[in-house]
Amino acid sequence: MSVDRTRLHIALQRSGRLSDLSRDLLREAGLRIESGKNSLTARAANFPADLMFVRDDDIPTFVSDGVCEFGIVGQNVLEEFALGQPEPTFEVVAELGFGKCSLRIAAPEQLHYEGTQALVGQRIATSYPRLLQRFLDEQGIQAEVVQMKGAVELAPRLEIATYVCDLVSTGATLEANGLRVVEKVLDSQAVLIRSLKAVDEGRANIAEQLLSRIEGVLATKESKYIMLNASSEALKRITDLLPGAEAPTIVPLHGRPGHFAVHAVCQESVFWETLQKLKAAGASAILVVPIEKMML
Ligand code: PRP
Ligand code: ZN
Repeated sequence: MSVDRTRLHIALQRSGRLSDLSRDLLREAGLRIESGKNSLTARAANFPADLMFVRDDDIPTFVSDGVCEFGIVGQNVLEEFALGQPEPTFEVVAELGFGKCSLRIAAPEQLHYEGTQALVGQRIATSYPRLLQRFLDEQGIQAEVVQMKGAVELAPRLEIATYVCDLVSTGATLEANGLRVVEKVLDSQAVLIRSLKAVDEGRANIAEQLLSRIEGVLATKESKYIMLNASSEALKRITDLLPGAEAPTIVPLHGRPGHFAVHAVCQESVFWETLQKLKAAGASAILVVPIEKMML
């Protein structure tokens, strides 16, 4: 397939922890994606963007080379890649809030562990050799990094290594292999990255549109629209309580002099505690509604 230079290209994980949520995000940004699970590319029917479904480990390379202008990838994969590059080749444009996990060192359950000194001179199996080496260097620990492409959790049983350094999300994989966490190397989540390779004006404009939509999607996830009624004396106290709301709209209530309707977009989560405080401050008829779309 030749690459169409009038369209954007977005690299996504083909299958794995990020793939469904990455597609969901693009759908929420309005892209109609027509493809089955097994296709390697897809075309957005209503937006000038093509999606490339690749191995997560290949996403930073695709974006760095400019084959794809954007990619969605875990910080774990991204930082491991970046540590091997002489200079930056991409920029992180948004943290996406999904795919949260962490890179951790784990040991067999029965192994006695009393801090990083226990790692000195030991063999640690990992698919993240650079991140692990950076951690060991920061701790001033000399240990042997054993690189594996996958199934790292098997290493202790196969006596390839004493420790493993691998991604942990639910912890089920570690548990199933009789391992327990002893150190944290990195916290990770999915991020949107953008190539630093220059693009023509056409694609730069499409990129801006995509970014502003994704920013909108991320903003609406947390945001709520609040409506409530209040008397003029209570207004100041109430507007001070609205979480992350700038410049609420305040309009007089018809037929109730001295009473107002307050409407505001709250950029932070609205909890029951907040509603209780609002009520105590004199608010009534409080409504909290989700926001479907937002463009900032
Ligand atoms: C990671 C890791 C473990 C598993 C841990 O693999 O290698 O196998 O996830 O998850 P858990 O704590 O929820 O059990 P991943 O799915 O990222 O696949 P990959 O390393 O092959 O890309
Ligand atoms: Zn992977």
